[in-house]
Order: sequence, then structure tokens, then C-alpha cells
Amino acid sequence: MTLLDLDPAQRGTVGNNEFNTYRPPEINGSYQGKDIVTVDQFTRPEDVLNLFAVADDMSRRVENREALTILRHATVVQLFYQPSTRTSTSFEAASKWLGCQRIIGRDGMTAYSSAVKGESLPDTVKTIEQTTAADLIILRHPDDNSSEIAAASTSIPIINAGSGRKEHPTQALLDLYTVQQELGRMDDLTVTMTGDLRNGRTIKSLAKLLTVVGSNIRFNFISPDVLRMPDEIIRALEGRGASVNVGTNGELDDVIPTTDVLYVTRIQSEWFTRQATEDVKDMLGSVADGVSDGSITNIATDIGKANYERAVEGYVIDNKRMQYAKPPGEMIVMHPLPRVNEISQEVDADPRAAYFRQMRSGLYTRMALLSEVLGG
Ligand code: NCD
Repeated sequence: MTLLDLDPAQRGTVGNNEFNTYRPPEINGSYQGKDIVTVDQFTRPEDVLNLFAVADDMSRRVENREALTILRHATVVQLFYQPSTRTSTSFEAASKWLGCQRIIGRDGMTAYSSAVKGESLPDTVKTIEQTTAADLIILRHPDDNSSEIAAASTSIPIINAGSGRKEHPTQALLDLYTVQQELGRMDDLTVTMTGDLRNGRTIKSLAKLLTVVGSNIRFNFISPDVLRMPDEIIRALEGRGASVNVGTNGELDDVIPTTDVLYVTRIQSEWFTRQATEDVKDMLGSVADGVSDGSITNIATDIGKANYERAVEGYVIDNKRMQYAKPPGEMIVMHPLPRVNEISQEVDADPRAAYFRQMRSGLYTRMALLSEVLGG
């Protein structure tokens, strides 16, 4: 059983009064003591630019192997309800590079914590605050609103390390920092995003953040039709002046020559049954009430499998495709990783392949964020 199988009430996702009135604070000049749950908290470019200046400083200090003490007195807890390699290790390393002596990491929350017994997320974060005297909790969870729910349930800051299919704000920060480092600008960019634009959270957070910080942003959203970028995100981006072109995999070769940032993502097989369940329920409308959950799940599992097979076809980035891209210095390939087959290994040696360097940006931007939220 996974958390997604539990009754939402058990996971504290509904009927939580504190959550209903919670509004994440805007950064607006100060990170200190604030939850970081959504990129919507970033409303002014200077807040991101200031953080990047701190990240630059962190990068110099790490290169010099300096011992920092900013988090010497802090207690940081990581609660991960979904798998992670990059996000969890870079947050842990960031805390330790900043001198944190008490970092308590919990992977496998779905298997080994009291969530298995049905404990709600609000109760779990309240528990952690008491048992560890934590100053900050870093949370990864499969529910879209999990970080807001957690933030509403505690007085200490919550940092969202990936919530459901909706948000991954610290990934957006590290991605944007990578763009600035690699291309020297965050304006006037053609950004092509491919893969799973429906279920992926990194692309949604990054696209929104880009339009806060940069001007003259043109997006190409290339994906199989079943994995299209949700309309509400497209409308939000257009509302902020970005131009958006939506296409299917067959159009990838048309947009590669003018692309500055090619952001590739994994087809997220783990969400396909849930996504098909939503589709089947939408299709059935009020008739769905008369159909058992088991029958819907059976149909949804089959549709999910078929959609996945179709989705993984025909968009692999390889050296042949890269021939038509702009030259090194003018163009980069990014990926939040993990990759499965969507970027061929032969591309790794290409100087435009920025996806391994991108991960180091995660260390520096997360150091910057932790020091801004807890330092001072
Ligand atoms: C991503 C995630 O978890 O959203 N990984 C990451 O944090 N770098 C992307 C993915 O799982 O495909």
C-alpha cells in the first residue's frame, strides 16, 4: 500500500482547517523564518537575484573547502515520502557544509513511519517538531498540497522538496541558477520543455519562476497529447507576458534549431494509473457514482499502461538531433534527473549537456536558501 491508496482524510489532505486558511508568505525582501512551499512566493526578480548572489558566494566557499558555521546551532529534519537521490543528498550536504551538527534524515516515510498506521501529515510534522526540537523541516510528499498542509500545522519553516505533481520550488531555483551560470542571462530565451509536462512538477515551477525573473521568454511545450502542460499553467505564463507554443513529439525537430534551453524530463510512469483514473472519472461524469472504485481502477490501469507505451516513443535526444541545435555557449540541455532513456548517453560528452553540472547548482542554491531562512 502506498500513501496514495490511503483515504485522503487519513493523510490530512482534506478537512484541515488550518490548511484552508494558510497563505504562503511572499519573500518580498526577506527569507528569514519563512516557509518555502511554492514559487508563487517569488513576486520580485530581486529576491531571486539576491539568493543567487549568496549561492555564488557559497560556491566559492565550497570550492575553497571553507568550514562554515551559519547553521551550527540549527536542527534540520528531512522527511521524504517519495524516492530521492539528488534532492535529499544535496539538502543534507548543504546543511552540513553550513555547519549543521543535527541533520536528521528520514527516507522511506511511506514504509517505515507511522503514516503506515494511518497517521495524518499534520500529526506527523507536529510530532517531529516535538521529538527533535527541529528549526526547519524539508518535506517531499506525493500530495499536491502537502507542503501547505505541513506549513499550516507547525510554527517552524517547511521547505518543499517536491509536492505531488504541482511544485518543486528549490529545483526551480537551482535550474534557473544553472541557466544564469551557463548562458549568462535569464532574459530573452527560447525554452523548450519535453517529456511529461502533465505530471512533472519541476517544469511547472521552473516555467513560472522564469517569467517572474526574466522578460521575453518563449516556451515550446513538446509532449505527447496525453501529457500536455496543464492549461492553467499556460494561462498563467501567458498572463505574465510569455509566448507559448504547444506541440507534440513530431514537432521537436522543428523547434530545436531556435532553442536556447532544452529541458528534458522523464515520463513519470508512477502517476499514469492515477492520471487515467482522473480521465475515466471525467469521462463518466455523474455516471461514475454508480461504478465501483475497483472497476474504475482496473480500466484505469489498462489505459495507464497503454498511455505510457505511447508516451515513451519518439522523443529521445541523441547526437543526431543535437546536430541541429545552436552551438556550445549559446544552448544547453538540462534535465532534473533521474533520466531513463530520454537522453541518449552519447550526449553526455557534448559540452552543451548541462545536466550533471546542474546538480551542483542544487548544492549552492540550497545552501543559500537554508542560510537565508535560518541564518541572520
Ligand atoms: C524530479 C522530481 O522528483 O520531481 N527529480 C528531482 O527532484 N531532481 C524529477 C523526476 O522524478 O523525474
